Amino acid sequence: MTGAATSDVTIRKCDALAEMQACFALQKEVWKFSDTDLIPVRMFVVASKIGGHVIGAFAERDLIGFALAIPGMRNGHCYLHSHMLAVRQQYRNAGLGRRMKLFQRQDALARGFELMEWTFDPLEIKNSYLNIERLGAIARRYNVNQYGITSSPLQGGLPTDRLVAEWWMKSERVEAVLADAPPTKFECRARIAVPAEIYEWKAEKTTRAQALAVQANNRERFTTAFAEGLSVLGYERDERGNGRFLLGEWDEPWRY
Ligand SMILES: CC(C)(COP(=O)(O)OP(=O)(O)OC[C@H]1O[C@@H](n2cnc3c(N)ncnc32)[C@H](O)[C@@H]1OP(=O)(O)O)[C@@H](O)C(=O)NCCC(=O)NCCS
Repeated sequence: MTGAATSDVTIRKCDALAEMQACFALQKEVWKFSDTDLIPVRMFVVASKIGGHVIGAFAERDLIGFALAIPGMRNGHCYLHSHMLAVRQQYRNAGLGRRMKLFQRQDALARGFELMEWTFDPLEIKNSYLNIERLGAIARRYNVNQYGITSSPLQGGLPTDRLVAEWWMKSERVEAVLADAPPTKFECRARIAVPAEIYEWKAEKTTRAQALAVQANNRERFTTAFAEGLSVLGYERDERGNGRFLLGEWDEPWRY
């Protein structure tokens, strides 16, 4: 599945200015944002100085992946908001994204955080699977068009709807997932599907309306399910590459 070997890749915190500049350059390469949508180097520097972090993945001296997080606060509780995670194309699907998240978790726990959050596009099948199944995050909030229409081709000109991933790093759920224990059972009360063709539909002007229709339908279904107290607790993929969110009631008490 992968193009380049990743066993020798080192993951560590970045704090030198040159490393922040390399993260900025990789951001440009991965998202292909126009200049106005890019997070500037100075924000990487600030994040690392105010209680967030910048984590780099290095193949020898080359930066091939990074994670950027900033501290957040809600209802009197501090948490870490992970704003970006990126792996250079030829190093993907070899577990590096997950390894960087685990490094982020270690650093966050060592500094007293219990919760890490990030937002993700629910139309991205691979990210959804990674977040829910391989990391154990849950989701119970939906933000409509969070950033407006962005310049990244990854978004395909669609509204930037986002699910909020909550990663309760000390929860039984996360500990079980990370220990490769059997997944915690739950009664599935709703299923929300994303067709494998979504990437093609987003990429072409002529089919974009189909992607928009999936997004609009799923938006409605997520907001209704969340209003009923359900959370995303599972994610299924089939052999054709279709994805499916599984929703149920989360019985652990974690919430800020
Ligand atoms: C998201 C991203 C960081 C993931 O990095 P990565 O190193 O490829 O991720 P990992 O290999 O750790 O995990 C990906 C998982 O998805 C699986 N996967 C790969 N292709 C898939 C697909 N088409 N559909 C579903 N799952 C897929 C992988 O097999 C892996 O699961 P596994 O560990 O069970 O094998 C990387 O794809 C990326 O940089 N994307 C562009 C930027 C982005 O979207 N960032 C996230 C939002 S900020």
